[in-house]
Amino acid sequence: MNNFTYYNPVKIIFGENTISQIANEIPAKAKVLITYGGGSIKKNGVYDQVISALANHKVMEFGGIEPNPQYSTLMKAVDICRNDNIDFLLAVGGGSVLDGTKFIAAAAPFGGEPWDILAKSAQVDTAIPVASVITLPATGSEMNSFAVVSRKELGKKLAFGSPLTFPKFSILDPAVTKSLSRRQRGNGVVDAFIHVTEQYMTFPQNTPLQDRYAEAVLKTLIEEGPEYVEKPENMEAAKNVVWSATMALNGTISAGVVTDWATHSIGHELTALHGIDHARTLAIVWPGMMHVMSDEKKEKLLQFAQRVWDIEPGDESKMIETAIAKTEAFFTKLGLPTRFEDYKLTAADIAKVVENLKANNFVQLGEQKLVTPEKVEAILADRL
Ligand code: NZQ
Ligand code: ZN
Repeated sequence: MNNFTYYNPVKIIFGENTISQIANEIPAKAKVLITYGGGSIKKNGVYDQVISALANHKVMEFGGIEPNPQYSTLMKAVDICRNDNIDFLLAVGGGSVLDGTKFIAAAAPFGGEPWDILAKSAQVDTAIPVASVITLPATGSEMNSFAVVSRKELGKKLAFGSPLTFPKFSILDPAVTKSLSRRQRGNGVVDAFIHVTEQYMTFPQNTPLQDRYAEAVLKTLIEEGPEYVEKPENMEAAKNVVWSATMALNGTISAGVVTDWATHSIGHELTALHGIDHARTLAIVWPGMMHVMSDEKKEKLLQFAQRVWDIEPGDESKMIETAIAKTEAFFTKLGLPTRFEDYKLTAADIAKVVENLKANNFVQLGEQKLVTPEKVEAILADRL
């Protein structure tokens, strides 16, 4: 296990009917900008709950943050923050709204070119405080400091993170998931699942506690995910998926651990190039990653086979194949296709993904920096 600093200051307020508590958490004198997406919060009653809770606060609104939040949209909110002296940001929506709001928080007081925060990892020295009412369990953004922002005109999707962009608090009300489509439910479970494997499916690192936390989240998603996807009214399943998605990416399972994230890096290019939903790109790439990198990940794949999928010890390559196949079948059962042809992509589309990764200098991906452009080609060829 490596040395580490563990820091997670996010206050989590979990449970049904907890949205009203935002009034106590946001300073009474704050000038609040409420940010949201394409309007789901106006249809499912979340907007009304937020507005009534903040009846005694000064509030402004900024809607229209799109899935895979766009830089040009976010910069409009940056102007509002600067012109109207906003001193608190409340993101009400999914990961895209929250990520976009974290970027707004960092970009508004930033002295230089805001794009550099993403493109050049420019240091963020100050940020407007951010909090969230998260409406889609998936990204873990509600309890981490990361944000992913897209810039369509450049074909780029880039991430940043800063200790200043941890949410001050996040409301996790499982009832808000009732209005999610089946597609968004399935996407959320798979995104959370792969967040765990990005931190777990590496090589033995003498981190048995982190491994068992990871396996606990994976098993919970396998047990509760299908029920959550099929039965929107089942609040018990929703509660467990909501908490699993948060625990999947809040720093707990990666403390002292060398992590992978190659599946995400490749997936982000598929979203940037073809507009495929984030989680769906991961469902395509992950089985290919496991096939191509199975030697490097052998010990952890065997551990995953035994402890997560309860596969009996035996022929090692068969155990690994079965574990990958069961995982792929799990993604399919949740409604996520796993092959290029499901998105009308062909072998001709591989080169552009590799080219984009090279342009972003992602040429040594993975926990051991062994996922080279040649390996990416093989991983994607596995998905044809
Ligand atoms: O925009 P609205 O109208 O709100 O509709 C959204 C959107 O169309 C809808 N939705 C959200 N909550 C709803 C709802 N519809 C009905 N009822 C509700 N309760 O769902 C659609 C998708 O929303 P989005 O926020 O895009 O989904 P998600 O939460 O999966 O976020 C995806 C983004 O997060 C990034 C992804 O790359 C992508 O840009 N990620 C962020 C991470 C992080 N911050 O740590 C890590 C992840 O790996 C990921 O990369
Ligand atoms: Zn993800």
